[in-house]
Amino acid sequence: MALTSVSLSLDSVVIAIYPGSFDPITLGHLDVIERASRLFDQVIVAVLCNPGKDPFFSVSQRLEQIRRSTQHLINIEVDSFTGLTVEYAKLRQARVLLRGLRVLSDFEKELQMAHTNQTLWDGIETVFLATTKEYSFLSSSIVKEIAKFGGSVTHLVPANVADDIFSYYN
Ligand code: PNS
Repeated sequence: MALTSVSLSLDSVVIAIYPGSFDPITLGHLDVIERASRLFDQVIVAVLCNPGKDPFFSVSQRLEQIRRSTQHLINIEVDSFTGLTVEYAKLRQARVLLRGLRVLSDFEKELQMAHTNQTLWDGIETVFLATTKEYSFLSSSIVKEIAKFGGSVTHLVPANVADDIFSYYN
């Protein structure tokens, strides 16, 4: 077989970005990240710095939480960005924008976002990964709601995040 037919060019390296608030990262997010790490050459988990929002955890805390939760995966990078997701994707040469889909009600908002992003840059492909069934109910908001009323969230978030939440309330 000719060498040229098997050699990989840089163009064939597929970089995916997984943007979100991750306030905080949940086991549902982690499940998407772990599965994406097997599908793509590199996955950039990108935390949106959203000045309009009052987050529970700061961006630097969220970056640290995600880094610690994904340290067993070699092709994951964790970063933050401001502004439009597609502009960040261009900057990072990412052609795939990854989002998790839990339930049907997610679909409408996610499709609208995918279509919007397509109008902003037709170089991006949104790829949806269906969340594992056991996490289909799970969101960062639910985690914060349970924690606020003193419930345990250890079965919902990575251990280091559960520790951070425990420290926040104790
Ligand atoms: O975890 P979230 O809050 O559901 O993530 C939403 C996110 C960050 C992916 C989305 O709000 C986003 O891409 N914001 C950046 C601004 C942008 O690009 N808007 C145009 C697409 S709707």
